[in-house]
Amino acid sequence: MLDLQNVSTAYGQVAMLRGISITVRKGELVCLLGPNGAGKSTTFKALSGLLPLKGGNVALMGQDVTRLGAERLTAQGIGFVPEGRKLFPSLTVRENLKLGYDASGCGTPFEARLEMIHDLFPRIKERMNQQARTMSGGEQAMVALARALIGDPELLIMDEPSLGLSPKLIDEYFDTVARIHAEGRTVLLIEQNAEKALSIADRGYLLVRGQIAVEGSRAEMLADDTIRHMYL
Ligand SMILES: Nc1ncnc2c1ncn2[C@@H]1O[C@H](COP(=O)(O)OP(=O)(O)OP(=O)(O)O)[C@@H](O)[C@H]1O
Ligand SMILES: [Mg+2]
Repeated sequence: MLDLQNVSTAYGQVAMLRGISITVRKGELVCLLGPNGAGKSTTFKALSGLLPLKGGNVALMGQDVTRLGAERLTAQGIGFVPEGRKLFPSLTVRENLKLGYDASGCGTPFEARLEMIHDLFPRIKERMNQQARTMSGGEQAMVALARALIGDPELLIMDEPSLGLSPKLIDEYFDTVARIHAEGRTVLLIEQNAEKALSIADRGYLLVRGQIAVEGSRAEMLADDTIRHMYL
């Protein structure tokens, strides 16, 4: 479904991401772990077309999308949840969701997709006309996820979506992501919370200083010494 081959990027002269390769197969939930500054968001930017590559390529469903850009990728069935949510604060929840829907190439009517979103996020349903900025942190996290899902994407890519949530809300959030995955959606979850991410992932990668240090199945990741020392 998604293939990063040997991707390199740089900020000015400083290399950040030095030839990383990541594969996400259809139906998988793959997590990309890594400490602060490892290059997780840089990877997100590289594969959403927000940052030009110095080398390598990105393929979506076998098609080279390296130079496509975020807008066209969204229209081709990727739902993005960016770091820090990036909601439109003065717009209502409904307007935020409508923008997500309009950006997608979704053929199902908006109202029908909204019903699905309301099933998944009952608390959003009661707050459709509330300004996004007045929602609680946990609610905003759900709105950002709902905005990515409303266009019925094949692949969901999330950058540290649980950041800033309380432990209880983190549990709730990861349960929701697990449910989205169980319903058949493919997910790339970029996370610093290795324990939570590995509890729901099929496979994972650990990024350290712009390179993949460890990769493997959930069991292999959980048993890996580097990961155990760093996180568990
Ligand atoms: N626009 C930029 N210009 C210069 N350096 C940058 C820029 N954006 C990020 N960097 C640097 O690249 C490195 C990786 O940053 P990145 O945001 O990818 O880390 P991250 O793994 O997402 O970390 P975090 O867990 O804190 O979000 C950091 O050292 C950061 O300072
Ligand atoms: Mg980041």
